[in-house]
Amino acid sequence: MKIDELLEVMKWRNSCRSYDATKEVSDEAINNCIIAANNAPSACNKQPWRFVIVKDSQTRKNLYEHGLLPGLPMKWIQDAPVIAVLCAKSDAIVHWFTPIFSKIPYYLVDSGIAGEHFVLAAAAQGIGTCWIGWINGKGIRGVLGIPRGIQPIAMFTMGYPLEKRNPAKKLDQSEIAFFDKWGKKEI
Ligand SMILES: Cc1cc2nc3c(=O)[nH]c(=O)nc-3n(C[C@H](O)[C@H](O)[C@H](O)COP(=O)(O)O)c2cc1C
Repeated sequence: MKIDELLEVMKWRNSCRSYDATKEVSDEAINNCIIAANNAPSACNKQPWRFVIVKDSQTRKNLYEHGLLPGLPMKWIQDAPVIAVLCAKSDAIVHWFTPIFSKIPYYLVDSGIAGEHFVLAAAAQGIGTCWIGWINGKGIRGVLGIPRGIQPIAMFTMGYPLEKRNPAKKLDQSEIAFFDKWGKKEI
């Protein structure tokens, strides 16, 4: 793949909040997303990500009803034919002991990377997604039977977009990248 193609996918990707409820996402397309996620890097290669892919309509309804926190209406979730639930499995040494020193919760960093691999693979196949972080982990746990030690950290809606949206406005590159020293904007 050429860099142009990769950047095109990354620029095309935006959070999709209107789905064609009649158009299914194929198992092959979902599987490609799982392959992409599973090839993400992770601290000490611990690979803490776990996904539950929900296609069953009653289970999606249950996630909508019990898996969200109140106050942020997200009715459009109900039109997405697939909901992928991203969970993180923590490891005592890498994920709890080492962060005492580094202050970095690696299992969340790793799972976030895997989640975005998943989302980009969806975008490369023309499938829209939206990260949903306003979740009720306890509710999701109950709906999906997720065991202790595994933490739901996000859901992604998946489906074919009803409309093509313009990408969200991003910061100017000069605000996010410095060269050789903090604040030095010239390469
Ligand atoms: C960790 C995370 C949590 C998010 N949670 C929600 C959410 O609960 N509901 C929602 O509609 N969008 C959610 N979003 C989507 C963001 O609002 C969106 O990524 C942001 O506005 C930038 O737009 P873009 O994705 O189109 O570039 C979340 C995104 C991330 C990365």
